[in-house]
Amino acid sequence: MTDMTKPDVRPENPRFSSGPCAKRPGWTPEALNDAALGRSHRAKIGKAKLKEAIDLTREILGVPDDYRIGIVPASDTGAVEMALWSLLGARGVDMLAWESFGSGWVTDVIKQLKLKDARKLEAPYGQLPDLTEVNFDNDVVFTWNGTTSGVRVPNADFIPADRAGLTICDATSAVFAQKVDFEKLDVVTFSWQKVLGGEGGHGILILSPRAVERLETYTPAWPLPKIFRMTKGGKLIEGIFVGETINTPSMLCVEDYLDALKWAKTVGGLDGLVARADANAKVIFDFVENNDWIENLADVAETRSNTSVCLKIVDPAVQALDDAGQAAFAKAIVSALDKEGVAYDIGAYRDAPSGLRIWAGSTVETADMQALMGWLNWAFQAEKAKLAA
Ligand SMILES: Cc1ncc(COP(=O)(O)O)c(C=O)c1O
Repeated sequence: MTDMTKPDVRPENPRFSSGPCAKRPGWTPEALNDAALGRSHRAKIGKAKLKEAIDLTREILGVPDDYRIGIVPASDTGAVEMALWSLLGARGVDMLAWESFGSGWVTDVIKQLKLKDARKLEAPYGQLPDLTEVNFDNDVVFTWNGTTSGVRVPNADFIPADRAGLTICDATSAVFAQKVDFEKLDVVTFSWQKVLGGEGGHGILILSPRAVERLETYTPAWPLPKIFRMTKGGKLIEGIFVGETINTPSMLCVEDYLDALKWAKTVGGLDGLVARADANAKVIFDFVENNDWIENLADVAETRSNTSVCLKIVDPAVQALDDAGQAAFAKAIVSALDKEGVAYDIGAYRDAPSGLRIWAGSTVETADMQALMGWLNWAFQAEKAKLAA
């Protein structure tokens, strides 16, 4: 007999979306009361807030002093594309991809920029490409944490300190929950809507001194729109990296990011944030260990994400269904949990294999994650009973 009684405990916050992610515990709109609204972002008050956002980002993430940090338009996508369009073409490029977002950057480079000297190193969902194959005489573009497969690089040991090319890293679902090694990275990008539960629309672009040198010594063969331009007369526009944004930012979103950064400090800064995500992910990994109907999509334990945890349903009755049937089964679980108000937005990404994706990042409370686990079993048993019927 399977037990289909609903669990007694519900997550207090059912928000487990992989972006925009849950806001920090205790967040209310009052957190934004100090926003510099209706004022120019170039006025003293606006500039001070933008600069504070940059300074706190540096402090919490431990970004080296000689790296530039800029607030840029169009969220993480904007930051990545600014880097690709501004830096690539000077030498060959190795494009690493193991899920949807990394594949999107491959498309940018091969189909849009049409770079001839581009190599693709790809792996299917659940795996990493062979990192020993990467040629660091080339520029290298990769995603630290593949949000749609839940596979991350375990560390930056595969990157040599004395590389000739630049490393360009989309780290949007990693930073603040995983330690990225800035010394091994020349470009790091992320958006506010991920691990700190901020808002979409703005991106952060971090540049090493070698990336700046490339910007100042290399001019791409293609035109650059104003929104991507980081140099003037062959010199870096330094203002971008002290809060003089290229165009108008939302000061409401800036205030919200500041609130998130200040909260981050109260939970122990980066170490505290990483520990929170680790604890959340462990709840899921333990659940997977104890339930044979579900497995991690990431094959290798040390590559498993502690933010975007992706799971596949391996119960034989479900596996016997065709692809559409398996997807429908996973969707039914997702919508049952949504309807119960215990988990929102935990379906696998649209391009990924069917299953579940549960955000375990630092703003999620571990007690909520624990409460969710009982509900996963409940929804699975309920849907499986329907299948049998
Ligand atoms: C790895 C990765 N790259 C890029 C993006 C796009 O981010 P944004 O929508 O903030 O531009 C996402 C969003 O989920 C992502 O997970």
